[in-house]
Amino acid sequence: MGKTTAGPPFLDKTLWEQTLRLKPRKGENIMKKAIALLLALVTLLSLTACAGKEDAASSALDQIKQKGELVVGTSADYPPYEFHTEVDGKDTIVGFDMEIAQAIADKLGLKLQIDDVDFDAALLAVQQGKSDIVMAGVTVNEERQLVLDFTETYANGVQKVIVAEGSDITMENLGEQQIGTQKGTTGNILTTDEFGEDHVIAYDDAIAAVQALNNGQIDCVVIDSAVADNLVEANPGLTTLDTDYANEEYAIGVAKGNTALLDAINTALQELIDDGTLNELAVKYELADLLLANQ
Ligand code: ARG
Repeated sequence: MGKTTAGPPFLDKTLWEQTLRLKPRKGENIMKKAIALLLALVTLLSLTACAGKEDAASSALDQIKQKGELVVGTSADYPPYEFHTEVDGKDTIVGFDMEIAQAIADKLGLKLQIDDVDFDAALLAVQQGKSDIVMAGVTVNEERQLVLDFTETYANGVQKVIVAEGSDITMENLGEQQIGTQKGTTGNILTTDEFGEDHVIAYDDAIAAVQALNNGQIDCVVIDSAVADNLVEANPGLTTLDTDYANEEYAIGVAKGNTALLDAINTALQELIDDGTLNELAVKYELADLLLANQ
């Protein structure tokens, strides 16, 4: 053990000694002493401030590792990305995103906990630290980049328009319709920006929007293509327009500045792309043509 008078290892030794030496030596200027003391304090403060910052960045990942659990926020109303199904007689959340989340957790040696809330709440939960990551077919856009950090994108998302079979709705007259969307989604944001709030209705989830379409309360629903395909299959009398409404890309969101976690997840994601896991999952959920690694 070193002498206690050595002071913190990062602090200049002379400054530390001067700090400790409270009684001025003979002939020593009291003013000089005060300045030295001040300097030492400033150095100490700025050093601890820097150390604190670094700690915050790495500690989010450290804390997750300590808990042994990765919490993924999602909105499990979006087959094939995240949805409820019965596994061994038990309600379970499955899907492409959820299996990627599980594979990432496995790579990091963590248990996965799924937190199922409304889509807009899932985006908020990760910002507030209530979840560690958000995976919910989340499209990367500029306004979300202001409040979240995103991993590399892993899949294409295509916004499609669901209509009743035989309807005369086209991309050209879309703005004259009543459009159903899920609240907080890009489908909602884009159509509101383009056609105005009077033409767009926000539902809690995709299924509620499709029910409203079935009941004739709205004319169409704007939603991600793979989900549209699932909903059209489950609801006879509905179809999708051939033309895409918008082209987007999905990524995993983490809280802003959470660099250590972001890096760890990006590394895991890249490994899952390289070893073919992501492709296998995409094939399983019929999403292979949307996987960015395949393009
Ligand atoms: N891709 C769209 C977006 O990011 C919709 C995502 C909705 N996801 C969900 N799980 N309901 O806004």
